[in-house]
Amino acid sequence: MCGIIGITGQGPAVPRLIDSLKRLEYRGYDSAGVAAVVDGRSDRRRAKGKITELEAVLAADPLTGASGDPTVGIGHTRWATHGAPNTGNAHPHQAGRVTLVHNGIIENFAELKAELQAAGHVFESQTDTEVVAHLIDQGLTAGRDPLDAFKAVLDRLRGAYALAVLIEGEDGVILGARHGSPLVVGWGEGEMYLGSDALAVGPFTQKITYLEDGDYVRLDRTGATVFDMTGARANRSVVQVSASTALVEKGEHRHFMEKEIHEQPDSVQHTLSAYLDLVNAKVRPPEGLDFAAISRLQIVACGTAFYAGMIGRYAFERLAGLPCDVEIASEFRYRHPALMDGTLAVAVSQSGETADTLASLKWCKAHGFRTAALVNVHSSSMAREADHLWPTHAGPEIGVASTKAFTAQVAALLALAVTAGVQRGRIDAAEEARLVRVLFEAPRLIAEALTLGQAIQAVAQELSKARDVLFLGRGAMYPLALEGALKLKEISYIHAEGYAAGELKHGPIALIDEATPVVALAPLDEVFEKTASNLQEIAARGGPVIMIAPEAAETPHGAIMTRVAAPDCDPLIAPLVYAVPMQLLAYYTAVQKGTDVDQPRNLAKSVTVE
Ligand code: G6P
Repeated sequence: MCGIIGITGQGPAVPRLIDSLKRLEYRGYDSAGVAAVVDGRSDRRRAKGKITELEAVLAADPLTGASGDPTVGIGHTRWATHGAPNTGNAHPHQAGRVTLVHNGIIENFAELKAELQAAGHVFESQTDTEVVAHLIDQGLTAGRDPLDAFKAVLDRLRGAYALAVLIEGEDGVILGARHGSPLVVGWGEGEMYLGSDALAVGPFTQKITYLEDGDYVRLDRTGATVFDMTGARANRSVVQVSASTALVEKGEHRHFMEKEIHEQPDSVQHTLSAYLDLVNAKVRPPEGLDFAAISRLQIVACGTAFYAGMIGRYAFERLAGLPCDVEIASEFRYRHPALMDGTLAVAVSQSGETADTLASLKWCKAHGFRTAALVNVHSSSMAREADHLWPTHAGPEIGVASTKAFTAQVAALLALAVTAGVQRGRIDAAEEARLVRVLFEAPRLIAEALTLGQAIQAVAQELSKARDVLFLGRGAMYPLALEGALKLKEISYIHAEGYAAGELKHGPIALIDEATPVVALAPLDEVFEKTASNLQEIAARGGPVIMIAPEAAETPHGAIMTRVAAPDCDPLIAPLVYAVPMQLLAYYTAVQKGTDVDQPRNLAKSVTVE
C-alpha cells in the first residue's frame, strides 16, 4: 500500500527520491518522508499529506550538510494502516543508528513493542513499523554485524513487509527485504536503487532485479548481494523492463484518469491482439491451455477487477458452456471453498499484487488446482506465482480509479471466452470468425464513445448535485452498473449503488424520488424491453432517469429522461463500449465537484495489505 524508494549513488539523492515518490503516490498518499545520510548522520524530513507538502518542508529546511548534498537516502509515501496519517507516524522511522521505511503490516508488532518497551525502548509513533527500527538497533547495540542484525530481526517478523534501511556508519549501504510486499533492485552506473516497483526506479534505470518472497539484500554503490530466507546467497536475474514501465507522464490531459480513459481504444486493441488473430479471424489460445479439459472456472479478484470477472462469467457460460464462479478474494481466501476437480482458478488483477487476490491464488495452487493470472503488471507476484500468465496490455495505470485496466481485463476475458467456446466445440469456424471481428470493433466504438464527452459533461453538472445515485443494468450490464457506481463514489464521493434492473422492485425502488437520479445502461440486446419496463416503473415514481442507450432505442413511455446516445454495438462488446460513458460520467462529476480525481481520499491503487 505504501511506496518505498532507496538510492545509493553519486549525485544529489533527495530530488530524485522525491521524483520517485511522486511516481509511487498511486500506492498511498496520506503522508510522506525522506531520510538521507548528511555528514555521516541519518537525517529525515516528513510531512502529512502529499509529496508536494514534503517538498515544501524540504524547501524550508533542506537536507544538506557541510559535505554538500547527500547521495544516499530512502523515501516513503504512506497509506496508513496502524496510526493516524500525521507527521509523527510518517516514515522514515528512526531508532538509534537505524532509519527505515516499510510497506506492509507487521502483525506481531504489539508483542514486539511490549518486549522492547520492557527493555527500555521509547517509541515516538503509533506505527507497527517503528518496532523494526528498534529491533535492528537493539541487535547493533549488542554488537552484531548489520546484516546479521537485520536477518535476525526479519526472522522475528510476522506479516507482510518490504523494507529499506539505512544504518549510520555504514557508508553508502542500504539494506532491503521483502516478504509479501513487492520490492525491486535497480541497477545503475555506479549507483544502485531499491523500490516498490519498476516505475519507482524508472527515471534512473530499466535494469531490474525482482526480489522473491523472503529475500533480503545489501546494496552499495557498486552492486547488490541478495540472500534468500535461509541466509544463503541467492542468484536473482537482472531483467530489462520496457521504457513505458519507466516513463509515465500526463501529457496534454488534466488528470491521469482522463488520459487513461482516452487510451482505451489502444489498450483494448493491444490486449485483444494478444488473444485473437484478426487477419485470420481466429482465436489465439494461450499456450498450454485447453478449455475443453477444464470443468469449471473460479475467478477471484477485488474491486474493479471483480466486476470485470463478473462480466467474464456471463461470456464463459454463454459462449462456452463453461461453469464459472466469481468471488471477492477477501471472502474466498478464508471460507475454505469446496472447489471441484478440474477447476482452473483465475486471479484477475491490475497490479498483480493485491494481497487478498494473491493469497487466494496461492491457496488454490497449494490445494492442487491449476491457476492463471490475468494481470496488467506482467512481472508481478501473481504473474510469477500462477501456472499461466494471461497478460492485459493496458500499460501503466496511474489514476487510482481503474479505467483502462478494467476494459483490458474485460477484453481479455471476452476473448478467452470465445477461445473456450471454440475449444469446447460450442463455436464453429464461421461463428469464431464473426465473434473475432465483433471484438475487434470495440476499439473503434470505444473511440466513438469518447466523443460523448460534451454531452456527458452536461449530465455530470446535474449529477454533481445529487446525494445518491442508482445505476441499473441487466446481463453483463449489471456488473457494469456496479462498476459505474463504484467509479462515481470513489472519485466524486457521491453515494452510488449498482443494481440488477430486475431486482429494483425488491427493495431499492423505495429509494426512488425526484432527487435520486437513476443511470440506466440499456444497449439494444435481448433484455432491452425488460430494462425499458423497469425504467417506466421508475418514471411512474418521479425518478429522473439518465438512459445510456443507442439512438434507435425507444424512450420508455412517460419517463423523465436524459438520453445519452451510446454507439450501436453487438451485445458481446457492450460492456467495453458502455464502460466509457460510465467512466466519463464519474470523471466529469468529480471534476465538477473539484475532488482530487487521480488520488481520491482514503484510497490506494495497489492494496498489498488485507
Ligand atoms: C484497489 C484499487 C481498485 C482496484 C483494486 C484491485 O482498491 O483502488 O481500483 O480495482 O484495488 O486491484 P488490482 O490491482 O488487484 O486490480
